[in-house]
Amino acid sequence: MSVQIDHLLNETRRFAPTADFADQAIGTSKLYADASEDRLQFWADQARDLLHWHKPFTKVLDWTNPPFAKWFEDGQLNVAWNCLDRHVLAGHGDRVALYFEGEPGDSRAITYAELTAEVKRAANVLTKLGVQAGDRVAIYLPMIPEAVISMLAVARIGAVHSVIFGGFSAESLRSRIDDANAVLVITADGGYRKGRVTPLKPAVDMALTGVPTTVRNVLVVKRTGNEVEWTDRDLWWHDELASVDAEHEAEGFPAENPLFILYTSGTTGKPKGILHTSGGYLTQVAFTHKNVFDLHPETDVYWCTADVGWITGHSYVTYGPLANGATQVLFEGTPDTPHPGRWWEIVEKYKVSILYTAPTAIRTFMKLGRQIPQGFDLSSLRLLGSVGEPINPEAWMWYREVIGGNVAPVVDTWWQTETGAIMISALPGVTVTKPGAAQVPIPGVAIDVLDEAGVHVGHGNGGLLVVTEPWPSMLRGIWGDPERFIETYWEKFGEENPRYFAGDGARLDEDGDIWLLGRVDDVMNVSGHRLSTAEIESSLVSHPMTAEAAVVGAHDETTGQAVVAFVIIKYSHLEESSHEDIQAVLRAHVTQQIGAIARPRQIFIVNELPKTRSGKIIRRLLQDVAEGREIGDTTTLADTSVMQVIKSTLR
Ligand code: PRX
Repeated sequence: MSVQIDHLLNETRRFAPTADFADQAIGTSKLYADASEDRLQFWADQARDLLHWHKPFTKVLDWTNPPFAKWFEDGQLNVAWNCLDRHVLAGHGDRVALYFEGEPGDSRAITYAELTAEVKRAANVLTKLGVQAGDRVAIYLPMIPEAVISMLAVARIGAVHSVIFGGFSAESLRSRIDDANAVLVITADGGYRKGRVTPLKPAVDMALTGVPTTVRNVLVVKRTGNEVEWTDRDLWWHDELASVDAEHEAEGFPAENPLFILYTSGTTGKPKGILHTSGGYLTQVAFTHKNVFDLHPETDVYWCTADVGWITGHSYVTYGPLANGATQVLFEGTPDTPHPGRWWEIVEKYKVSILYTAPTAIRTFMKLGRQIPQGFDLSSLRLLGSVGEPINPEAWMWYREVIGGNVAPVVDTWWQTETGAIMISALPGVTVTKPGAAQVPIPGVAIDVLDEAGVHVGHGNGGLLVVTEPWPSMLRGIWGDPERFIETYWEKFGEENPRYFAGDGARLDEDGDIWLLGRVDDVMNVSGHRLSTAEIESSLVSHPMTAEAAVVGAHDETTGQAVVAFVIIKYSHLEESSHEDIQAVLRAHVTQQIGAIARPRQIFIVNELPKTRSGKIIRRLLQDVAEGREIGDTTTLADTSVMQVIKSTLR
């Protein structure tokens, strides 16, 4: 039966799991029953079933000092051993862990035995370089196997990684290295992107030059062979790996040992170092990866297209799949190089059965047309996942119909850097799915939608998304800033009964299913990546030409939102330079300070910004302008004529 997308958009369709799918499904309705009977017992059972504990835990949750949670506190485990050695010992050493596909077309299949061997050597290198348990290691790499190997090697010795997305600038890199006092940086000479070499090492050099730093060494993977400058602290990855012992014994570390810090944008200019620990995190990522994606590790080929620089890459490239012994594709490149069918060629080549990607990619493919994916054999795909931003019903249907051949279930997964793992999603063998809805909390997770006063909104209404009970993979804090952790996430609904406020709006439909409505704070979502309006504003005002700046996330058909800036330029510069030149300089400045993902799509040069009487910029009105809408309520403006002036200057 062929479904016609056009007819569906105004009504909610429902897709029940087929009998065949439900019969073989890993996650069944028993999970919901078990979790609701005894939530903590449920998580304890999952932790024991899914992981190997060097020392078994006896305590499940300590929530005596909220919001500081401790899960499985007296247990000990080694995260890397759980992702590697135990699979080899179970006889799966020959199973492929990573099918690496490089952008230029080079490829490498790495088995669990080989990956384990590499991680052991890398762990020995870290120890040789003086890295100890608890030390921070910054990782700034392209999507190559060494990224995964580095993360696991750091975890193996009980140290803490901070992965910085390769698209971030030297300045962003420096502030993250400094905030965490990293002792080592692991990078590469460069990576391949859109058919070209993108150097990485120069950004590390820039980040470390001329400033006091805690970094003692820089370990450099040779990927592209481009010339790199060399300093006394630099070491070649391959030389170092060859120089150490092949054996490494993984010791157990406490469940609450920090595993990683990952910086994410908040509502202020300074990115937050979100801290995750070991046992609870690994439990929930393994649980969700297995049940939400219906993973059959013996037969499935899984592919998550996220970069390891984001949380999706941490939880659903490195830790979840490897903890579950999955075989997965790791792709260095972009979807359209050297041709727009590259992803589908990879699906065909490796017979990918589970695909996890972001709505922005799906919408881009929709625009290019179905003839491109239809030129490849996608019949291996049996499950499709979506993450990062709300997926519109039209894109959901296209994904199911064109990519999933009208049979593969689509699971829309809601979660955050802070939540560590999937929190809301269908279970594909159980849930009757609806295009556009994230649907239900996963078993063992408690979610509610509240109004501003903290009252449950009831079916058919919208409000604020909260998590009402602690969960195993929850963030344990903001690195070095416990006060900010409390203020940002836990104070909105009172201290008596702390509830985690996610920053997202959501609606409960008549069945009680959850539909995400986007951020309710000053955080933007561009192509599924989080950006802070304040961070881009402070970058714009740091340029000597700028007097004031306001940034909004405006609706964009492909990327979800796009960065639109309104700037007031100092008079002297306005006289000297054209608007085009100023716009070009500021766009380059933001790129250099934060990275290309933050580069504004548009910069409007204005004389004034809309403000309240107390001087707060009313971004809502600028958003109306940026999205070409009628301007909303202006009664709170100090000067009500300002919006007319702004509109007229833009014409
Ligand atoms: O607004 C929500 C959106 O992405 C935010 C989290 O961003 P980040 O920490 O970068 O993690 C992205 C990958 C997990 C959320 O606050 N978001 C994420 N997934 C969804 C989503 N919005 C709607 N539907 C989703 N499935």
